[in-house]
Amino acid sequence: MKVIIASDHGGVKLKRSVFEMLKAQGVDVTNFGPDTDESVDYPDYAQPVAEKVSDGEFDRAILICGTGIGMSISANKVKGIRCALVHDSFSAKAARQHNNSNVLAMGERVIGPGLANEIASLWLNTEYEGGRHERRVSKIEK
Ligand code: RB5
Repeated sequence: MKVIIASDHGGVKLKRSVFEMLKAQGVDVTNFGPDTDESVDYPDYAQPVAEKVSDGEFDRAILICGTGIGMSISANKVKGIRCALVHDSFSAKAARQHNNSNVLAMGERVIGPGLANEIASLWLNTEYEGGRHERRVSKIEK
């Protein structure tokens, strides 16, 4: 599975932590930036990254800003993207099992690196259940 990760200035520290954890777990993860805390606009990262998932260049993406809200709103504007804003472990699993989310958004000002790493790991390793959820997910696509 090919994963891409990006942030804005408000999420750069948490992104670094999640990126290093995924690398250490052997995940094929690419950092789209930024790498400094200089102020940037989250749509400038969310949109191109979401497009890389929607066009199949990457399988999944993780987007981090201060709250995760701007990143999730922006990513969900891209066709084929189901971005879940997640700050707890239960939702990390449900966002895969029920919603087949292909982008995960989190907020650096909301949770710490321990929980963020657990959420990212759970989200990447949980399968979509399909079945009754398929009808609902396909309605989103329509
Ligand atoms: C940047 O200050 C902040 O607005 C951004 O990181 C994010 O929280 C937006 O949703």
